[in-house]
Amino acid sequence: MMVGVSEFLQKRRSVMARNMTAPGPDAAQLRDLLSIAARVPDHGKLAPWRFIVLQNDERAELGKIAAAALNDDSVAGQFGRAPCVVAVLACPKPHPKIPRSEMILSAGAACMNLLTAAQAMGFAAQWLTGDAAYEEAVLKALGGEDGDEIAGFIYLGTASEAPSERARPELDDIVTFGLTK
Ligand SMILES: Cc1cc2nc3c(=O)[nH]c(=O)nc-3n(C[C@H](O)[C@H](O)[C@H](O)COP(=O)(O)O)c2cc1C
Repeated sequence: MMVGVSEFLQKRRSVMARNMTAPGPDAAQLRDLLSIAARVPDHGKLAPWRFIVLQNDERAELGKIAAAALNDDSVAGQFGRAPCVVAVLACPKPHPKIPRSEMILSAGAACMNLLTAAQAMGFAAQWLTGDAAYEEAVLKALGGEDGDEIAGFIYLGTASEAPSERARPELDDIVTFGLTK
């Protein structure tokens, strides 16, 4: 029986990249996932995001670039933890009315849509940044331009181990009805 959207969202969990194995999405599934990722609220229809798909050797190539930039060999293999990694770039553009922060938020929404869609399709997925996400050399290798930011690396694969539940904030701590007096 198909799980309803609400029930799915209530139980959805990320799987840690180190608990991922093959397969990742095939070409048709990836196309569906990326179409969903791009179907997000976007003030001014600026499409301020880009998706760079890394599979096969490209993962190690980017790992090498990250390791050199960070002077840390331990990061070289990080993109190899999943069969497919999608780098999501936030590409804010100067605009007379729309603040940059709204474009960054839209890129975050694209990350979340990709994550959720992949999980709904039965894949293991995790949204990670890590130090590599803040390296100029990594941004440039992904085709990013000055002012662009890496919103996240979305790792996609198959769970080798089911995730356990993790603590969530108490609603009373984060929700207020009405104004603060
Ligand atoms: C922008 C962003 C960057 C993240 N980067 C990392 C990271 O570098 N390392 C890490 O362990 N978790 C990172 N996380 C958290 C993971 O995505 C973690 O799996 C997530 O909090 C689990 O949430 P979920 O089960 O609700 O999907 C990041 C989350 C976000 C939103």
